[in-house]
Amino acid sequence: MTETARPVRHSQTTITELMVPSYANFGGKIHGGILLSLMDKVAYACATKHAGTYCVTVSVDKVEFLAPVDVGELVSMHGSVNYVGRSSLVVGIRVEALNVRTNVVKHTNSSFFTMVAKDENEKPTTVPRLILETKEDVKRFIEAMNMRKVKAAMKEQMDDARSHIDIAHAATLLKDERCVLAWKQE
Ligand SMILES: CC(C)(COP(=O)(O)OP(=O)(O)OC[C@H]1O[C@@H](n2cnc3c(N)ncnc32)[C@H](O)[C@@H]1OP(=O)(O)O)[C@@H](O)C(=O)NCCC(=O)NCCS
Repeated sequence: MTETARPVRHSQTTITELMVPSYANFGGKIHGGILLSLMDKVAYACATKHAGTYCVTVSVDKVEFLAPVDVGELVSMHGSVNYVGRSSLVVGIRVEALNVRTNVVKHTNSSFFTMVAKDENEKPTTVPRLILETKEDVKRFIEAMNMRKVKAAMKEQMDDARSHIDIAHAATLLKDERCVLAWKQE
C-alpha cells in the first residue's frame, strides 16, 4: 500500500472575522485572548485537514503582538502546515487586520502552533507526509525542522540547569540581574 502524502496547499486555511466591541479590552483594543482563540481554530482546521484525524494543540511558539488590533477591523488568520513529524504538525499562522474604511492591511503577528494527531483511542497517530511543491514550502519545512532541534536542545539544557542549581552558581548567574537572592540553601 502506498503511504499517503498531501501537498501544503491541501490544508491551507483562512479564517476571517470582524472585530466587534465585545472583543475589546479596557484599553479599547482587541483582547490578545480573542486572537489566540481564533489562531487555535485555524491551527486545528489546518492540522485536521492534513492529518484526516482529530488533532490537539500541544504548544504555541513565538506569540508576539506586533501591532494592536482595533474594533471594526476585519482580522484574517492564514494557516499553513509548515512541517510534519511522525504524529506532530507545525502550523504557521499569519495574522492580518484590514481597516475596512481605508483598505489598509497590517500584519499583527505570526505564530507557530504544534499540533498532534490522535487516533480513535486518543493515542498519537502517524500523519501523511507533506508534499513540498514550492521554494517557500521547502524553506518553511527546514525552518520548523531546525526550530524543533533548537527546542529539544534548549529543553535538555534547562532540565540540566534546574537539577544542578546551588547557591554559589545562582549567585554568579544572578549577580547583574534585578533580583535579590534571599534564598538560603540548607
Ligand atoms: C500531545 C500529547 C498527545 C503527547 O503525548 P505523549 O505521550 O508525550 O506522546 P509522544 O511522546 O508520542 O509525542 C507525540 C508527539 O508530540 C510531540 N510533542 C510532545 N510534547 C511536545 C511539546 N511540548 N512540544 C512540541 N511537541 C511535543 C512529540 O515530539 C511527538 O512528535 P512526533 O510524533 O512528530 O515525533 C499529550 O501530551 C496530550 O494529549 N496533551 C494534551 C493536549 C491537549 O489537551 N491540548 C489542549 C486542547 S486541544
